Amino acid sequence: MGQAKKRSATDGFGHKVLDEVRFLKNWIDKPLMTGAVAPSSPQLARLMASYVDPERPGMVVELGPGTGVVTQALIERGIAPERIVSIEYNRDFCALLRQRFPRVPFVHGDAYRMGQAIAGHVGEERHPVAAVVSSLPLFTRPLPERTRLLDESFARMEPGAPFIQFSYALVSPVPHGATRFELERSGWVVRNLPPARVWIYRRRG
Ligand SMILES: C[S@@+](CC[C@H](N)C(=O)[O-])C[C@H]1O[C@@H](n2cnc3c(N)ncnc32)[C@H](O)[C@@H]1O
Repeated sequence: MGQAKKRSATDGFGHKVLDEVRFLKNWIDKPLMTGAVAPSSPQLARLMASYVDPERPGMVVELGPGTGVVTQALIERGIAPERIVSIEYNRDFCALLRQRFPRVPFVHGDAYRMGQAIAGHVGEERHPVAAVVSSLPLFTRPLPERTRLLDESFARMEPGAPFIQFSYALVSPVPHGATRFELERSGWVVRNLPPARVWIYRRRG
């Protein structure tokens, strides 16, 4: 007999439709901040999570969790909820996320002030950050801010650890050469509205 599929915090038709409505409403109110008309598809979220190595010690920092589709994919990837620290600017999304994932520490704050937001979660004495997984709409910010975000992340990571970002654009949200990193990109995920791809930045040794 086949095993029943375990339900996730973001499963179900009702959830999906409600999340789409929430996104659309927030996008109408704050298009630049929300950055998308709909949540990412599970396919895109799983692809992002696939670049996180669950064996690498340290916290996984998530930026812009929205309604939690990437958070869910990280947990399914084998990252314990307590190992994630997730920063979301939207107060309503934060309240929803805390209900959905009670074991994940969500910080209501600005991801571009990452140090401030994760202080107390990622202590100096612990391991460096294992990965940063970002769904932020980076193109709505000037390039120096994007570059600073990447540099701030790399300062907390060991060489080789990934900063993972999705985008709908043809070009990298942080141009290669703007800072010292190695760049990898995925193929297009067509089962996403609109199609998107994943960019992986790694600090050089
Ligand atoms: C494109 S949505 C992605 C949401 C979700 N991860 C997904 O893939 O469906 C971007 C998210 O980033 C959040 N966000 C935008 N700017 C932010 C900032 N400066 N700090 C924290 N969160 C931010 C938005 O509120 C929104 O939830």
